[in-house]
Amino acid sequence: MTALGNLAVRVPFVPTARRIAEEMVRFAKLKGNETVYDLGAGDGRILIATKRLHPHVRAIGWEFVPTVWLLGKLRIWWSGQDVSLRLGNALSQDVRDADCIFLYLFPEAMALLETKCDRELKPGTKVLSYVFRFPNHQPFAQQEVPWMGKTRKLWLYEW
Ligand SMILES: C[S@@+](CC[C@H](N)C(=O)[O-])C[C@H]1O[C@@H](n2cnc3c(N)ncnc32)[C@H](O)[C@@H]1O
Repeated sequence: MTALGNLAVRVPFVPTARRIAEEMVRFAKLKGNETVYDLGAGDGRILIATKRLHPHVRAIGWEFVPTVWLLGKLRIWWSGQDVSLRLGNALSQDVRDADCIFLYLFPEAMALLETKCDRELKPGTKVLSYVFRFPNHQPFAQQEVPWMGKTRKLWLYEW
């Protein structure tokens, strides 16, 4: 397995609570016609929430654990939303057409993704990360969300 693959394996499937997923979509302040990715999409719930709030966005997720991907395909089918959930390593995909990217990954993966974003993203692309920050870029906005009696942060970046 490649170094990228090894690092990516260390991020387990920990789904974002539905309420927080909706909060993330609202915080991204989408116009409604963007191309939106979730890199490490899990069961696709953030993209499903995105499509419910903004039916005309193009929603694409990458998930590399086949069982989680399959669960996501079922969840998307059940939701009736037009979300493309693809099986593969998000770190190897071309995301140059992204207008907005959602992330809930762990610090090592964030560092790898930051390099990828620097290489590929067009100016103005929004990147919204739940909990974990990029090591070098500064967020231009942040928001606290309540979680089990504490708070967690949403970090909004603009490339
Ligand atoms: C913390 S979970 C978040 C899932 C979803 N984004 C959410 O917020 O509910 C991270 C997911 O990313 C997947 N993942 C981690 N690294 C990945 C990679 N390089 N490519 C694709 N999926 C990855 C894991 O299998 C896991 O399902």
